[in-house]
Amino acid sequence: MTTMRRAATRVDIAASTTLAITETPFSPLLASPVPAHDHHSHATGICLVRGADNAFCPPQPGDKRSPCPALNALSNHGFLPRDGRNIGPFKIYQALREGYNLSMILAFILAFGGWAILGQLRKVSLLDLSRHNCIEHDASLFHVDAHGKEEYAPIPASNSLMKSALYQGGRYSSGRMRLEDVANIRVKREAALEKPLRWWQAEIARGEMAVAIGVLGGKDADKKGLDLEVLRLWVTQERLPDDWEPDHTQGIFKTAKMATVIRDRMTAMQKGQMINILDNELTPIFSPTESLSVGI
Ligand code: HEM
Repeated sequence: MTTMRRAATRVDIAASTTLAITETPFSPLLASPVPAHDHHSHATGICLVRGADNAFCPPQPGDKRSPCPALNALSNHGFLPRDGRNIGPFKIYQALREGYNLSMILAFILAFGGWAILGQLRKVSLLDLSRHNCIEHDASLFHVDAHGKEEYAPIPASNSLMKSALYQGGRYSSGRMRLEDVANIRVKREAALEKPLRWWQAEIARGEMAVAIGVLGGKDADKKGLDLEVLRLWVTQERLPDDWEPDHTQGIFKTAKMATVIRDRMTAMQKGQMINILDNELTPIFSPTESLSVGI
């Protein structure tokens, strides 16, 4: 994978408890600028501006996106239809194989298992995946919870949650989000819930990050974690690094093992058998002003 950049997000301590994060643009080594273009249509599922290959193009007016950065990035790179519509589980299976090189079994479980949880028989748009309390759950790392009784959760990632996650990550390996970091952050997020997650939602939440770190972090990601800049690019722009090519096949056993690391540490912290290092510090409150999704 690409030469990884050190965390380019600067934390400036302005006053004793006031923190401001200044975002630096992505390095062109990680993500080259997208050539200027007018709004255009992806209605055929392909992008006539960027061509038929897997170049990045942000969503255009009318395109649909989900709360899942993995699927949105597949759509923004043309592994899934660029308009995010007319999608069935087999298309997702193929895209997970091509874009992230998941093993056949893992891709099958995620694609068809996801569909079973959604309870859909017909093709859907990515937006349909945001149906609250199906796959979508509270205490996501990068998305705010669904409001009140709303049926669908917000699609755009939250600027403040993303910044918090970047700030709280990288505690075990500089500039990298490791499984241990995810456990610390998830414990904090779940502790703030009024109603605990159902067990299977908690499993999904851990699994999402285990797969993300496993795929984007490379073949040693279970030990070394994922570059925070790649994570920032993936969540904020729903984009893969320029020279993206998976360096391994991410399989079901490795993923399950990684999710277990997160679960065991979370359980130990929740039972008071292990200290959460994030408890010993003041976590800054980041501005919730703008959301991060592009284009729609
Ligand atoms: C390579 C495979 C995948 C990876 C790495 C992945 C990763 C993620 C991550 C990290 C999130 C959490 C976003 C957040 O915390 O704000 C997420 C959310 C979500 N994903 Fe995926 N995902 C994958 C495949 C899928 C598939 C196949 C489906 C559906 C069929 C799906 C549906 C969702 C949904 C509905 C959410 C929102 C859940 C929430 O409330 O946080 N994902 N995914």
